[in-house]
Amino acid sequence: MRQTGVGRPAIGHHFAVTRVIRFNAFDMNCVAHQSPGLWKHPDDQSWRYKDLRYWTDLAQLLERGRFDGLFIADVLGTYDVFGGSDEAAIRQAAQVPVNDPLLLVSAMAYVTEHLGFGITTGTGFEHPYPFARRISTLDHLTGGRIGWNVVTGYLPAAARNMGQTDQPAHDARYDHADEYLEVLYKLWEGSWEDDAVVRDAARGVFTDPDKVHHIGHEGTHFSVPGIHLSEPSPQRTPVIYQAGASPRGVRFAAENAEAIFTAAPTKVILRDTVSTVRRELELAGRDPYSVKIFNLSTIITSATEDEAHARHAEYLSYGDPEGALVFMSGWMGVDLARYGLDEPVGNVDSNAILSAVEAFQSADPDGREWAVRDIAEWGKIGGIGPRFVGSGAQVADSLQEWVDETDVDGFNLAYAITPGSFEEFVDHVVPELTARGAYQSAYTPGTLRHKLHGRGDRLPDEHRGAGYRVGGPTSTIIDRPSTVPSSPASVAAQPTRGR
Ligand SMILES: Cc1cc2nc3c(=O)[nH]c(=O)nc-3n(C[C@H](O)[C@H](O)[C@H](O)COP(=O)(O)O)c2cc1C
Repeated sequence: MRQTGVGRPAIGHHFAVTRVIRFNAFDMNCVAHQSPGLWKHPDDQSWRYKDLRYWTDLAQLLERGRFDGLFIADVLGTYDVFGGSDEAAIRQAAQVPVNDPLLLVSAMAYVTEHLGFGITTGTGFEHPYPFARRISTLDHLTGGRIGWNVVTGYLPAAARNMGQTDQPAHDARYDHADEYLEVLYKLWEGSWEDDAVVRDAARGVFTDPDKVHHIGHEGTHFSVPGIHLSEPSPQRTPVIYQAGASPRGVRFAAENAEAIFTAAPTKVILRDTVSTVRRELELAGRDPYSVKIFNLSTIITSATEDEAHARHAEYLSYGDPEGALVFMSGWMGVDLARYGLDEPVGNVDSNAILSAVEAFQSADPDGREWAVRDIAEWGKIGGIGPRFVGSGAQVADSLQEWVDETDVDGFNLAYAITPGSFEEFVDHVVPELTARGAYQSAYTPGTLRHKLHGRGDRLPDEHRGAGYRVGGPTSTIIDRPSTVPSSPASVAAQPTRGR
């Protein structure tokens, strides 16, 4: 049932155009990220997530494999939907304990030169003003290798612990995120001109105040009248990543994202998702290929096909079905503990689950109706995405086939065990794809944005964020107000041009 993805044979296999496939490593500052129970495997090192050396070694491994980036997921709550309690999540280490993602980056950047870092933070719980500075700081310290995965949150427990009774309604979360990004774009793009810092010792001027602007933001959720605290970093705005799947989520992505994460379990679903995203990009006035789309996937490979399948079977034997249902319940917003293991998923009573049910239903090549037990089995390794199992050449075949047939740009690789799964990929699949011209043979110099899109370090002019630059059509910057007490009122009274 599982798409274990042994591809067509390489011999006689011709691709019309050899596309270079992009790769991110998908991880989280926790144990056994998307592979519940695999922390019990003797070779899994993820329990060492509290050790800085574990992260710097991983970063160097990924750079040896010429990954575009390390994508670090995050949640600010527990998966307590399953059984109405956080007990199973805690027992299985299902993304708890979980540490902060941002604090890992400086050390990993120090030991690498090219690897990008896609950091997840939510728009719901932190004011954009300090967040803007933290990201600018990291963009400076990494020489422009920072991406930000914009999430609006899905765990009710996170909202409750932030003093809310529940999370706001789904689309309202995106409306809030729209303004959150507006504030950030104003700070990152519009506040400081490139030549504001002059460091002119003769005149005694470090920064020219005329070139540092108050952003004058007054909105529904935020009031930020002043300047950004950081001078412009190499990219200014970090590369914007997004993973929304709903119509509102895809529209948000089409307006903001430069890379999109999908989690389609089959080629058919992925092809639909990719074409929807590219169509929405066009509707938003952007080049449909100005965004790189990465599908969540797990690769289990080895020197031979037999070894790879043996490895897969061994990994599965450590997988924990309860942990899988803890995750699936959290992602679907449905307590799967309320259903028997043999209950068909079609009987699961929730609107929230519908798209996921459809996804799982159509994942079965035999058209057999899935039961809750099948979801538990699927979720043991790598979350919702497909697994590719085989020799390096076979996996390379499958990846190229997926790219050819779905128009996806690349893959966001979850691990079964870490760093083992990444090592296996680097040793067996990377040389194969490279030999076929389907993998970058060297990093492009420059920032993460330039590496991904080849169009310079800064947001392209047609991107929403670029409109907030000085003189841009959506800029709200105002002349320097006085700091005498009357000024806040006069600042607030300034007309703002929102979106
Ligand atoms: C590959 C992938 C990674 C994601 N990582 C996170 C994450 O780290 N934290 C988070 O809160 N949400 C994460 N999400 C959830 C998305 O941000 C989003 O909430 C979800 O895809 C549902 O989208 P929708 O609300 O538009 O339907 C991820 C989704 C995908 C597909």
